[in-house]
Amino acid sequence: MFIGSIEITGAAALAPMAGVADAAFRRICRDHGAAFTVSEMISAKALTYGDLKSQELSVLSDRERPAAIQLFGDDPDTLAQAARLVMAQKPDWLDINMGCPAPKIAGNHCGSALMRDPDLCYRIVKATCEAVDVPVTVKIRKGYAKDQVNAVEVAQACESGGAAAITVHGRTRDQMYAPPVDWDIIRDVKRAVSVPIIGNGDVTSPQSAAALYEHTGCDLIMIGRGALGAPWLFSQVEAYLKHGTLLPTPPLAKRMEILCRQVALAASLKGERCALLQARKHASWYMRELRGAAIFRGEAGTISTMEDLRALCWRVIKANEDE
Ligand SMILES: Cc1cc2nc3c(=O)[nH]c(=O)nc-3n(C[C@H](O)[C@H](O)[C@H](O)COP(=O)(O)O)c2cc1C
Repeated sequence: MFIGSIEITGAAALAPMAGVADAAFRRICRDHGAAFTVSEMISAKALTYGDLKSQELSVLSDRERPAAIQLFGDDPDTLAQAARLVMAQKPDWLDINMGCPAPKIAGNHCGSALMRDPDLCYRIVKATCEAVDVPVTVKIRKGYAKDQVNAVEVAQACESGGAAAITVHGRTRDQMYAPPVDWDIIRDVKRAVSVPIIGNGDVTSPQSAAALYEHTGCDLIMIGRGALGAPWLFSQVEAYLKHGTLLPTPPLAKRMEILCRQVALAASLKGERCALLQARKHASWYMRELRGAAIFRGEAGTISTMEDLRALCWRVIKANEDE
């Protein structure tokens, strides 16, 4: 499948996840076969004000490409201006967030709130496309609420505005991330537009990846939470879809090594203090379902240096030696 003229290889992309899918995690996922990555969502308005934190979020490393920068906002001109600013990072394309359900985003008319106004979605995509010479994609939900399901209409509006691909998360805003996910809506959008559709929601295994492709006919799938603490899921999905092979999960020592590599990379990018604070949740994801996981989760909540992390990994390996 192509996004504009960019060929996407690989069977599943990494979903954007604010506060979680930072540059280090994205690179680790690319190393394990993610088809592409997307930055954490970045405020278009903040970028136009020169906000440093937002600029930092837009930094892409070559090792994570193909990679998109995701912007959120509600004003076409501001999005266009922000789009021009982030071109300095040479993103392979830009993605516009039309799905975030968080009150501080949707409550400010951004993210999923845009879906209440398909014409505004059209104008945002059009203005952004006109501002830059890379493709522009959008990420939408099923709709704003269960009585406002309009993903098909919004997708058509975005396609008319020039969107090069559309990701559909099969939940409404009022569902947040709660079950059930509706894959039928992804299939409906796929049938209604001609640009590539990326299906998203609740893929956690090679089998559920295959099921999402089959159910919807989508061109690619995107995985978010299923990859947390399990970046190797991308190569497992690819092997299953291409060859019907179920690759085993890497051995525990290898998993702990991948965790340490991810956190060391994060430390080199944002400093040890900040990286280790954020590593606490990543460590507990990598350690879930292990013997002593509850205790180790508690310990992960106190790590503050790379040395703490390595010592914790060592204890985890020792406690699960027969794994
Ligand atoms: C912690 C977290 C942060 C997220 N941040 C973003 C974001 O910045 N932009 C976005 O479009 N979606 C964001 N999402 C939604 C995911 O990209 C994805 O659509 C959702 O998690 C459903 O996919 P999954 O079931 O594979 O996790 C976020 C989800 C989570 C759990």
